[in-house]
Amino acid sequence: MSPEGRNLTVTAHALNATDRRAHYGHDGAVLWLTGLSASGKSSLAMALEHALTALGYSCYVLDGDNIRTGLNANLGFSPEDRTENIRRVSEVAALFADAGLICITAFISPYRADRAAARSRCKKAFHEIHVAADIAACEARDPKGLYRKARAGEILEFTGVSAPYEAPEHPDHVVDSGVESLDQSLQKLIAYVTANLPGCFGTVVPSPQASD
Ligand code: ADX
Repeated sequence: MSPEGRNLTVTAHALNATDRRAHYGHDGAVLWLTGLSASGKSSLAMALEHALTALGYSCYVLDGDNIRTGLNANLGFSPEDRTENIRRVSEVAALFADAGLICITAFISPYRADRAAARSRCKKAFHEIHVAADIAACEARDPKGLYRKARAGEILEFTGVSAPYEAPEHPDHVVDSGVESLDQSLQKLIAYVTANLPGCFGTVVPSPQASD
């Protein structure tokens, strides 16, 4: 139903995208990281937030495990709940981008249709980045012991084991986190961001602390 049909009147902001670009030195964006559990999304997102901030960008990470302790604490891992998880997060990410910030998201986001809906909410600000470690690499790492529990039947509907992961068909960028080190993937992401969201910072030199 339209806003008018629900007795809502949308109020225009007094600032536009040009004003916000002048304030932050870059356009708002959503860097949407998708990949299996243990593919390295969270580590990469946090390292990227740190590195981009050191370069002068204004960023914030929305991370699956973190958001599921607050905003999405009432959601589980059924297909319907995952869709609602991604719907809410993509609405928040779109607001961050509209505010002029770079929002880095780290969610498995296993369904292509949910990611397509996220893209349409965030419009041209959206960049789909596949953190592409395969199931064998993720299961060999298993930092939280979740694959072991899933194989033992102690966790149901676990992505890659008993629930699907629909890999991106046309991602905007891919990092092969199954074979690359965290720092190699990070440097590729920094290069992608500085090429596609150049900002107003002149020549960018990655921080030596970028791999912390
Ligand atoms: S998503 O599928 O809805 O995008 P999200 O990224 O928010 O998932 O959360 C994934 C995290 O939840 C995993 O990294 C893992 O720590 C935890 N988790 C708990 N149960 C499951 C499950 N059944 N499948 C996948 N991840 C799970």
